[in-house]
Amino acid sequence: MCGIIGIVGKEQVADRLVDGLRRMEYRGYDSAGVCTVEGGQLIRRRAEGKLNNLVIELARNPAPGLIGIAHTRWATHGAPTTSNAHPHATGEVALVHNGIIENFKPLREALIARGRKFESETDTEVVAHLVSEQVEAGLSPQDAVKAVLPTLRGAFALAIAFRTHDDMLIGARLGSPLVVGYGEGETYLGSDALALAPLTQKITYLEEGDWVVITRDGAQIFDAANNPVTRAIVASGATAAAIEKGNYRHFMQKEIFEQPVVVAQTLRSYLRRVDQSVALPQIDFDLSTINRVTIVACGTSYYAGMVAKYWFEQFARLPVDIDVASEFRYRDPVLEPGGLALFISQSGETADTLAALRHCKAAGQTIAVVVNVPTSSMAREADLLLPTHAGPEIGVASTKAFTCQLAVLAALAAHLAVKRGQVSREEEAAIVNHLVETPAALNAALSHDEEIAAMAHLIAPARDVLYLGRGPDYPLALEGALKLKEISYIHAEGYASGEMKHGPIALIDEAVPVIVLAPSGPLFEKTVSNMQEVRARGGKVVLISDAEGIAEAGEGCLATIEMPKVHPLIAPLVYAVPVQLLAYHVAVAKGTDVDQPRNLAKSVTVE
Ligand code: M6R
Repeated sequence: MCGIIGIVGKEQVADRLVDGLRRMEYRGYDSAGVCTVEGGQLIRRRAEGKLNNLVIELARNPAPGLIGIAHTRWATHGAPTTSNAHPHATGEVALVHNGIIENFKPLREALIARGRKFESETDTEVVAHLVSEQVEAGLSPQDAVKAVLPTLRGAFALAIAFRTHDDMLIGARLGSPLVVGYGEGETYLGSDALALAPLTQKITYLEEGDWVVITRDGAQIFDAANNPVTRAIVASGATAAAIEKGNYRHFMQKEIFEQPVVVAQTLRSYLRRVDQSVALPQIDFDLSTINRVTIVACGTSYYAGMVAKYWFEQFARLPVDIDVASEFRYRDPVLEPGGLALFISQSGETADTLAALRHCKAAGQTIAVVVNVPTSSMAREADLLLPTHAGPEIGVASTKAFTCQLAVLAALAAHLAVKRGQVSREEEAAIVNHLVETPAALNAALSHDEEIAAMAHLIAPARDVLYLGRGPDYPLALEGALKLKEISYIHAEGYASGEMKHGPIALIDEAVPVIVLAPSGPLFEKTVSNMQEVRARGGKVVLISDAEGIAEAGEGCLATIEMPKVHPLIAPLVYAVPVQLLAYHVAVAKGTDVDQPRNLAKSVTVE
């Protein structure tokens, strides 16, 4: 995904545009660019790589003007070069885009046949040419945009500037988010409220198909049928402080350490301490009639869903199907009446998950969404909205969103179990008590930070690392491997401990560290047997367990990390901490870019 921002201002905009991009760099950081309008000229500056390169370019070649647009890119079509960087421009029009124009090829061929010259490999440039053609033919900017939007297929949020208009920008959205912000004699466009946080708190979230003309006096919004519409102006609540690192070296580190607070915050909105019960938001359908749950998500959110599958089956005795979103729709899943389709997402904008949600909605499923951005597309399309209260997550590697998702899913599992008569009031109260202990247990897990930092050098030289876990710790093994891969670039795999002997054991030698996640309990001995199979083949084991587990099986390990002894229900939340810290410290030891790892973006709004 990319970040876009536009300002129709009463003061110079270039620095403020760059500042807005800085707050959206988590959305993409392959290249960045701005374009202002001044004296009947489009003044465009672009740079490959991180935003600082654009800052250097602007210092060399300033972009004066009271109006402008800007973009930070996560490359989809075309390499991350300067010529592919946004804004894309013709002589008349410049624009920035987040999303994908799926039919760009035929559009591009037709434009070339009409004599248009392209300077990039992007899908976006066709939109600049299409709008420009209309303007050059004498249409007003509004009529030009109105004529072009219906010809575009795919997903887009656009901000468009016109050479001859230094008082107006046009924005449009379909499938990608776009907000309008209202200032004093200034109006803004942005991919999210965070981008506009220091400029304004007054925000309108555009709806699917909306397009908007912004001037210094405000905004005129039109729906997909070009009817003028009024959309609510709301307080964004986004604060610039929420997206600062404070005393931490990286956002990821800050977000790992925020977990006790944000998990407590999240649990508070689902647990009623007075009668020790679980309370979900008011809904107008009966959850006891649900006969099957279909969970769909991507990446870390998918692993949260895998943990939930264990809980829903164990506590609520509900059958659960689970799929990664990119596979779900295309395998034509059987969706029977009475099913609950549950989508899990930090951003609420992941294109694969959103498409799966819409597929399930069309198939008549009840839609539940566990999401961290309450204004996101998924949140707005849910029948049952289950927010996580993790606050903005900026580090590309998801940490606090994951544990908050687990907190909500545990509460949901308990609620479904009560509704289905599978747990008594006493058992519900016991579950609530265990969940209430989570923040303290997370603090205890975090207290091992220095020790984990000290052992990072044992893992940092490895080319491959394996993670093993059983039951709900199996998804944690997958999550640990994903974290390590994405920020340290070490190849890592997660396996169900018992599956090791069916093939992956062939990989084991003294150069492959094996991280074993094994809280003491009924499955412990079996996992220890798998661990011994690794050690017998020269494998170096790092055991993450509680004091009891380490006393029983810690001897001879390369290292051990002691977790507090917790109830199995909250173990996945607690054991998330050491795998996050391990990945973090290994990445720091390797000197990689922790918050902005190569090739990734925070939220993937393309399929
Ligand atoms: O915003 P979402 O939760 O829908 O995003 C899903 C994945 O893209 C995300 O979890 C990704 O795998 C993270 N980079 C993992 O750290």
